[in-house]
Amino acid sequence: MTVFEPMEEFLYFINYKKEHKDICELEMKSIFGKKPEGKYIYSSLKINPSRSVFLNWRLNLKYKSNTLNELVIDVEKDELLLEDYRINFLTIDSDVNYASRLDAMSKIGWCINGSFSLKSPKVELAVTKKDGVWLFGYYEKSDSSWLTRKQKPHNYSFALDVWLSKTLVNIAMENDLKKSLVDPCCGVGTVLIEALILGVNIKGYDFNQAIVNLANENIEFFGFNGNTICSDIKDINETYDVAIIDLPYGQFIKSHSDTALTVIQQSKKTANRIIFVSMIDITDLLNEYELQVIDKCTVMKRSKFSRFITICDGL
Ligand SMILES: C[S@@+](CC[C@H](N)C(=O)[O-])C[C@H]1O[C@@H](n2cnc3c(N)ncnc32)[C@H](O)[C@@H]1O
Repeated sequence: MTVFEPMEEFLYFINYKKEHKDICELEMKSIFGKKPEGKYIYSSLKINPSRSVFLNWRLNLKYKSNTLNELVIDVEKDELLLEDYRINFLTIDSDVNYASRLDAMSKIGWCINGSFSLKSPKVELAVTKKDGVWLFGYYEKSDSSWLTRKQKPHNYSFALDVWLSKTLVNIAMENDLKKSLVDPCCGVGTVLIEALILGVNIKGYDFNQAIVNLANENIEFFGFNGNTICSDIKDINETYDVAIIDLPYGQFIKSHSDTALTVIQQSKKTANRIIFVSMIDITDLLNEYELQVIDKCTVMKRSKFSRFITICDGL
């Protein structure tokens, strides 16, 4: 099999519900260092598309040409020999009709030697036309395995959604999965599980022993060691690169409970950067505690309920 050397350029397709546009853009900015143009992003960074719930696929570019014929000539020159490959057409520009898509896949297919497999390909390739330019390369679709993690032994009403936890971890880690992460108010461990799945070094704390036990059972359910610690945030002595803090809610759900205030006050010493999740806008409050807000967005849930995501500099 002759494997072709692709360029170090990738095209990603991003998809989101309109109420998640802001958080999706914040996540993309964190991972890629820039916001997407519409629903696409070109980058030299190779990111597994399954890392984000918003990434749909990645095209590892091999050729870019102004016409299909030039693209076909380029592919022909490579004299590729691939076993069990499949060519997909990714519809982007709307001027490529069904017949033209089939034509493109067939012309490229004729230039590749080896065996074609529609049902169980070992190599996925794709051709597309974006902004008038024809593109060809290796194609990788994201999986939706995160959906299965909605089912865990213990859940409670204030636990974060799996998709939001996964997105927060990506915002926290940016393009460096080696950073240390802490969830000082971890509840039943939703953020901890998403970080562990990504291979991130994370530590979880909660001041309620019963909840810590539930978090550890959840973590173990997904095959990791449950080493969540029962501690009040004020007693955490270690420091981390980033903290994700889903502020406690109580009967004072629409105001700041004392518990939440204590957590905000203590958060500064835990990490260089803190990502707060809250039910009200806490910008003024953070300023009062001399926590500098560097970015923020809101997340709508079922188009009415919102959560605020606020990123601050900590230590
Ligand atoms: C909103 S819940 C976190 C939910 C979590 N993100 C999840 O998905 O399960 C807030 C948690 O903060 C914990 N908590 C409140 N005050 C705390 C403190 N001072 N130190 C540590 N944990 C605290 C509570 O026990 C509660 O489990």
